Amino acid sequence: MSSFEQLIATHIQAVTGIDPELRPATKPEFGHYQTNVALRLAKTAGKPPREVATELVGQLDLADTCEPPEIAGPGFINLRIKADVLAQAATQVLQAEQAGLPKADQPQVVVIDYSSPNVAKQMHVGHLRSTVIGDCFRRIFLALGHTVIAQNHLGDWGRQFGMLVEQIRYEGLNISTLDLPGAEALYLRANQHLKESAEFAEQARERVVLLQAGDAETKRIWQALIDVSLTGFNATYQRMGILLGNADVAGESSYNDDLPVIAADLEQRGIAQMDAGALVVFVDGDATPAIIRNSQGGYGYTCTDLAAIRRRVNEMHADRLIYVVGTPQAHHFAQLFAVARQAGYLPDEVVTEHAGFGQVLGKDGKRFATREGTAVPLNELLDAAEEHAAPAVALAAIKYADLSSQLQKDYVYDIERMVATTGDTGPYLQYAHARTCAVMRNAVEQGVEYAAVTQVAAPEEQTLALLLSRFGETVSLVAETLQPHRLCGYLFELASAFSSFYENCPILKSEPEIRASRLALTAAVRQVLATGLDLLGITAPERM
Ligand code: ARG
Repeated sequence: MSSFEQLIATHIQAVTGIDPELRPATKPEFGHYQTNVALRLAKTAGKPPREVATELVGQLDLADTCEPPEIAGPGFINLRIKADVLAQAATQVLQAEQAGLPKADQPQVVVIDYSSPNVAKQMHVGHLRSTVIGDCFRRIFLALGHTVIAQNHLGDWGRQFGMLVEQIRYEGLNISTLDLPGAEALYLRANQHLKESAEFAEQARERVVLLQAGDAETKRIWQALIDVSLTGFNATYQRMGILLGNADVAGESSYNDDLPVIAADLEQRGIAQMDAGALVVFVDGDATPAIIRNSQGGYGYTCTDLAAIRRRVNEMHADRLIYVVGTPQAHHFAQLFAVARQAGYLPDEVVTEHAGFGQVLGKDGKRFATREGTAVPLNELLDAAEEHAAPAVALAAIKYADLSSQLQKDYVYDIERMVATTGDTGPYLQYAHARTCAVMRNAVEQGVEYAAVTQVAAPEEQTLALLLSRFGETVSLVAETLQPHRLCGYLFELASAFSSFYENCPILKSEPEIRASRLALTAAVRQVLATGLDLLGITAPERM
């Protein structure tokens, strides 16, 4: 749905040749939008602003959408959308599928790399953000008609598996008894063992070589560790209502065969060069080179990510590659994208984006951690949150807090504030939605029917209708900018507007015609809140 604001601005720009810089009106009596374009034109023309405004108003052809424009003060032009146009827009939201979300003109293949925890380690608060934000992107792109390919870039390969496998053998551990917290405890014991015993360290090193050589027994234990970890991750995804599952897993190890191929290709074509025993790529404007293969012959994080790009471009035919990973990895991704472009693995038309996010902080302003100073396991965080509210509400609180501030910013994890049903919180939105449901239930009980929004006379009704008309463009904007907080802000505005409508405009007690229209308006708000919350990955219970 194209917004009224856009339509008006485009028209005025076409007439005047300059951007009208349309602003929302400061008071309801000024209409809906205001522009100072006449004041600016008057300056260059050396004419009185009100005269210019009058002339301009005569040239505007907005009668289909707006009431006759009014000139105010020194030459501001005030615009008011016609009530019947607003009513129609609200009705359209009510009747359209998905509350009137537009389908993309050119559907794309969007690959979203998110969550990506590491095997034999529980997900910690750091993975919370990637998981919640990535899931929101996934829902939004799907709703807009794009093809989404989620990639859980599991950390399932590396030197640590040498010590893990060796420790299992040393302890004679039956792996089938392990769960994910157990595997993490094993990790800690193995690490300790490694520090204490040079002999064990040597065995762990040899075990890495065996793993790389594909030794059957070693691979069996390694696979068992992955299975245990995935079971744990999947349980957390389910608990959190995250769309990820086994089908989305593309672990680092799945690229192993590609790594020597990539190294050889880059070396042969002179893109990579040897530097102090390592194979590296220099990128313009970057002091440190990207390491393709280290001096011990090992391939690392960057080479694996290059292989992932190739698969995503060549096999998945991605138009857009999105990585939901914390801002500390900004340099890695900037370098990775540069190398991939230099190598010709990334055609110009494929867009890459690192949707980096800030940290979760404790109330003390430091990294959110346990009393011992270690990262908080996600499941413990969820357990603790559920002491403050029902699971669905606790989850809404956490997800909304995560999505509603600008991604790059750190935010303070303050569960008491987050679960409050007042203020800019997830539970407040759930509550507003439940209130619309209660109104609709009462209407059904009283046998009151409704079909369309026909009356938008009260300012509260106008504000609601105008907001409803902006839902589609808001969601499209999030898809474009990767800024979920814009959808959160919009839904919060809508919920607040509904609350003042609810307080000031009687619904079921009104005259039949107004009653039906207000019910339809309420139903449209319910639809947008439910759809919008769903796009954030937040449930919308009908009662609270
Ligand atoms: N496993 C990594 C971590 O926990 C995140 C991986 C992000 N994705 C990627 N393609 N590099 O830090």
